[in-house]
Amino acid sequence: MDRMIGVIGGSGLYEIDGLEDATWVSLETPWGAPSDQVLTGSLSGVKMAFLPRHGRGHVHTPTTVPYRANIDAMKQLGVSDLVAVSAVGSLKEAYAPGDFLIVDQYIDRTFAREKSFFGPGLVGHVSVAHPICARLAGHCTSAAQTTGVRVHQGGTYIAMEGPQFSTKAESELYRSWGADVIGMTGMPEAKLAREAEICYACIAMITDYDCWHPDHDAVDVAQVVAVAQKNAAKARDLVAALPALLAGPVSDCPEGCSHALDSAVMTAPAK
Ligand code: ADE
Repeated sequence: MDRMIGVIGGSGLYEIDGLEDATWVSLETPWGAPSDQVLTGSLSGVKMAFLPRHGRGHVHTPTTVPYRANIDAMKQLGVSDLVAVSAVGSLKEAYAPGDFLIVDQYIDRTFAREKSFFGPGLVGHVSVAHPICARLAGHCTSAAQTTGVRVHQGGTYIAMEGPQFSTKAESELYRSWGADVIGMTGMPEAKLAREAEICYACIAMITDYDCWHPDHDAVDVAQVVAVAQKNAAKARDLVAALPALLAGPVSDCPEGCSHALDSAVMTAPAK
């Protein structure tokens, strides 16, 4: 089977360029409908699937994004490598608005979302000690470097529930924990991708300095949207650079993503 690259686009990224045979397809899943139709096609001979996380027109809040349906839809289409693009605030001076950060860790502070495909009747526990596929993240770094954007490799993404931005005390707390960037949608997406045995990486597009920064009293949506829109062209360039790095047949992920369920299920098989 050939590799298929999935892209989940966040604020500012509602489409990708240059897809051959581009078709918006409707999918149903046991978890309901995904955020929107999925744009399928191919780029430089590699199959691609693109889903706007908030839906076209930005209709889903970070809490109401149907995360399980979105990951299920990607799995149904045969996505082997899933790249998430997310707008984030920066918690460190060195990570400036306009920069990209390739995430390698998360702190999950979300609390009002369905976080697992497992549940009563089928109990399973996957490891998310290393929630990002290091191989795919490496390709994302290489792709980002072709776009001319300033890119930082590795950093911790704190996922908050929202929809309000943080208080200053919360922002300072997250900084004291060593988190690098903050956003509202990174979780449970990464955990669900692991349960679905899909390689997952996240490109955090930095749009603001949150509210801790002495020169930036508060985050406002106008700034987030303006920077995200400016960066969207870079994100599309990054996506266009991925097929050359990821072409070829699907092989077992050396990081173990494609075998995450091998020892995860606790429930005895039905007799
Ligand atoms: N998305 C973009 N900027 C953000 C911030 N400062 N906090 C949470 N989510 C964000």
